[in-house]
Amino acid sequence: MKPPQIYVERTLAIIKPDAMNKAAEIEDIILRNGFTILQKRKVHLSPEQASDFYVEHYGKMFFPSLVAYMSSSPITVYVLAKDKAISAWRELIGPTNPFKARETHPGCLRDTYGKDQTRNAVHGSDSFISAQREIRFMFHDNVIEPIAAGQECKDY
Ligand code: TYD
Ligand code: MG
Repeated sequence: MKPPQIYVERTLAIIKPDAMNKAAEIEDIILRNGFTILQKRKVHLSPEQASDFYVEHYGKMFFPSLVAYMSSSPITVYVLAKDKAISAWRELIGPTNPFKARETHPGCLRDTYGKDQTRNAVHGSDSFISAQREIRFMFHDNVIEPIAAGQECKDY
């Protein structure tokens, strides 16, 4: 008999350059909020890689400064797993602009650690399609399956 399929949603999280000195604190918050860290990697993106990662924003006013910032120094990227991981992580990080976050979502990660609209401390995939693309982008095929031994998992 085939074992039951157990699927746990995954998302891509990034600790951006300005928050790297708070990585241990943020990881603690990640775990306390019930996420499992499936993968973790420290990476220094080239400007070309940062442009590819944020290609959906190509042509926007803030694109050049976003790319310069994201390639300015190392970041830490994570694959997080949890029930409804994508929306749960977006909720925990809060709105894009830390100043707005402070008003509408006090205590969220961007309120606590963000410095301005660009240096907003953390990233989270915004949909299932984005999560799939971003996890592949950062980890290629090296994503640990979030399942118990002997069980099958839906391909991501
Ligand atoms: P976006 O995808 O709109 O936000 P989020 O990270 O919340 O999904 O934008 C991607 C990043 O681009 C954002 O985290 C910070 C940067 N950015 C700016 O620098 N200026 C801006 O006006 C916006 C909207 C984003
Ligand atoms: Mg986004």
